Amino acid sequence: MTENVLVTRDAGVMEITFNRPEKKNALTRAMYAEVVDALRSADADPAVRVAILTGSGDIFTSGNDIKDFQIRAVAGNDSPASPFLTALSTMQTPLIGAVNGAAIGVGTTMLAHCDLIVASRSARFVMPFTSLGLVPEAGSSLLFPRLLGNQRASALLLLGEPLTAETALEWGFVNQVVEPEALMDTARGFARRMAVLPPQAVRQTKQLIRHGAPDVTARIAEELVLFRERLSSPEAGEAFAAFVEKRKPDFSRFE
Ligand code: COA
Repeated sequence: MTENVLVTRDAGVMEITFNRPEKKNALTRAMYAEVVDALRSADADPAVRVAILTGSGDIFTSGNDIKDFQIRAVAGNDSPASPFLTALSTMQTPLIGAVNGAAIGVGTTMLAHCDLIVASRSARFVMPFTSLGLVPEAGSSLLFPRLLGNQRASALLLLGEPLTAETALEWGFVNQVVEPEALMDTARGFARRMAVLPPQAVRQTKQLIRHGAPDVTARIAEELVLFRERLSSPEAGEAFAAFVEKRKPDFSRFE
């Protein structure tokens, strides 16, 4: 276990915290594996009634570690996000997202699998896949149009337009927006209410809401195939290099 993912349990509530603040909680291969273990252990332990996902410091997560993307582009390693997305999208325990700042890339797409979302006023949701030469993942190309309509989903996924906490509330993407200092109390309040409900009724209701949709699993798989191809594309190569070199990318040479 690294210290980059913190997992605590208290009175039926598991809290999973991305904790790599010096890198804006960017998710490494090891971190994905630790979150998968936590999600699976929540499902395996009847004492865990609900889980909360959050980030430490001023950000939820800046998404996948871009240096890891560069390594995968060359090495062709398996996607560390793939088992994470499987665990997340098939999880039986209710999951609450507590978004304390920016949620970027998979930071936002993972939230589409949360059952309740509380956002701090400073939260913003950004999916800059196209500007990284990538395509959406986590079923977001299906879930966002379904949730928000094609036009709004296109602004988010094609343009990478940021969504503020207030607009996310207005569009029904989050349940509540609170001041940053009230975030965890509010999320824990939802969790405590969930934790005292009859657990089977809760899990079955989540199952009915979430898992009647085999098309989500199929879309996650379809996206991952394209995503893997895109990772080693020259467009993505330019985007990753620009990020690491702290310069603007130049896509003008691509057809
Ligand atoms: N992968 C790898 N490193 C990351 C990262 C990521 N996704 N996000 C941030 N970092 C690193 C930065 O490289 C920097 O490292 P350094 O101190 O060694 O230079 C450190 O975290 C702090 O980030 P910085 O960019 O200086 O902070 P900021 O407050 O100016 O900006 C963000 C924060 C999150 C807006 C910005 O870092 C960002 O846009 N990150 C990339 C997000 C992204 O595109 N994710 C992939 C989505 S698919």
